[in-house]
Amino acid sequence: MGTIIKNGTLVTAQDEKKAEILMENGKITQIAAQIPQAGHTVYDATGCYVFPGMIDAHTHLDMSTATATTADNFDTGTAAALAGGTTTLIDFATQEKKETLHTALQNWHKKADGNSHCDYAFHMAITDWNTEVCHEIEELKNLGVTSFKLYLAYDNLRVSDAQLYEVLVAVGKAHGIVGVHCENGDLVDELTAKYKRAGDFGVSAHPKSRPDYVEAEAISRYCYVAKAANVPVHIVHVSTKMGLAEALKARAQGQKVYIESCPQYLALDDSKYELPGFEGAKYVCSPPLRGTKDVAALWQAVENGAVDSISTDHCSFRFDTQKSMGKDDFSQIPNGLPGIEHRLAVLYTDGVASKRITRSRLAALLSENAARLFGLYPQKGTLAVGTDADIVVWNPDAQWTITAEKMLQNVDYTPYEGKKITGIAKAVFLHGELAAENGAVVKRHLGHYVARGESEYF
Ligand code: URP
Ligand code: ZN
Ligand code: ZN
Repeated sequence: MGTIIKNGTLVTAQDEKKAEILMENGKITQIAAQIPQAGHTVYDATGCYVFPGMIDAHTHLDMSTATATTADNFDTGTAAALAGGTTTLIDFATQEKKETLHTALQNWHKKADGNSHCDYAFHMAITDWNTEVCHEIEELKNLGVTSFKLYLAYDNLRVSDAQLYEVLVAVGKAHGIVGVHCENGDLVDELTAKYKRAGDFGVSAHPKSRPDYVEAEAISRYCYVAKAANVPVHIVHVSTKMGLAEALKARAQGQKVYIESCPQYLALDDSKYELPGFEGAKYVCSPPLRGTKDVAALWQAVENGAVDSISTDHCSFRFDTQKSMGKDDFSQIPNGLPGIEHRLAVLYTDGVASKRITRSRLAALLSENAARLFGLYPQKGTLAVGTDADIVVWNPDAQWTITAEKMLQNVDYTPYEGKKITGIAKAVFLHGELAAENGAVVKRHLGHYVARGESEYF
């Protein structure tokens, strides 16, 4: 017997309609104006919107840097994700130097398998490119990994432009997609050294060491290299008006350019770095939070369809023991913000309830477009017969306040502390099972690995 969701309004990236959904054996088996009860369980969604399960395509769980390991692992991170309405996330498996991609993938499976409360997949971050690794791209495709990540900043992770070109060609042949962290690494290093030489070690030097042109130059370069390789572009965590302009320029010239931004670049701004004491360290991420003109430009791009997806870049470090490593030197503050739990809440509040975007646009930004680009569609990302029964029942009338005290993220702060939210994930179904309700996980560890197909270059 299955479960029928009744009395809700179904929302997809295309439209909204009043209909009922039947979920059986993990799949949506019927969508109709009325579905006979016939022994099925009924979930009453009166007054609610019924969205496809949300997809967070940018998370860093259980990831170690040179100095720290992220505070959220797959257990805590996926619980927080699920409670907030995310039913699938794509985490960055990261290759260590001298490691094969297969080993990196196995390592990430060890971290995630059996520990996850929502479904998960992996991008592969390549940090040590060579001919053997090149051969692995096609093999990884058979293991469900069709997207890759390259860094143009961070000395221990970044690749050269030649390597960028070679990876793009190899991944293009596999009909995958490469997401690139676009910041000019050399410039970041120079500017960081400059501020430190001048005795400027405080948090406010962090955004100064990574100004907008550092992002814009790298986005422009990536677009030109991708043009040479004749492949589509995916730019992760776009944060500036200038960077956005470079991406749109390439798009206007006929390149396929996919743009991701993150809630923190829309809901927060760089005034946080001026907070008293060391408080601003809570907001240190790369790229950094930006000025109000950048925030306005990003919102415009979210509203007019220029931005394709919004994922979290969830990369949580504790304030008391981890961010504090940079108390005397901003460059030692681990980079990254928590946010996996609050993406839908923040975007519904600042986007839909604030009348900037429609609910369908929200479904496109937070679910369908990522599903398409990362080879999950139509299994994930929409509401249709035959697809996975991953569903968020959203109560738009709930009012609540984000606070670290009440969240599931395993970290001692949230950058959205005190933010007033409109709406809540009243029920989250994963494979047709009621897995989370009103911010709490009610059925644990239902998540499993999702092998992905080729990218759809929509
Ligand atoms: O500061 C950030 N964003 N840390 C996570 C790694 C990355 O650059 O995406
Ligand atoms: Zn990045
Ligand atoms: Zn990231």
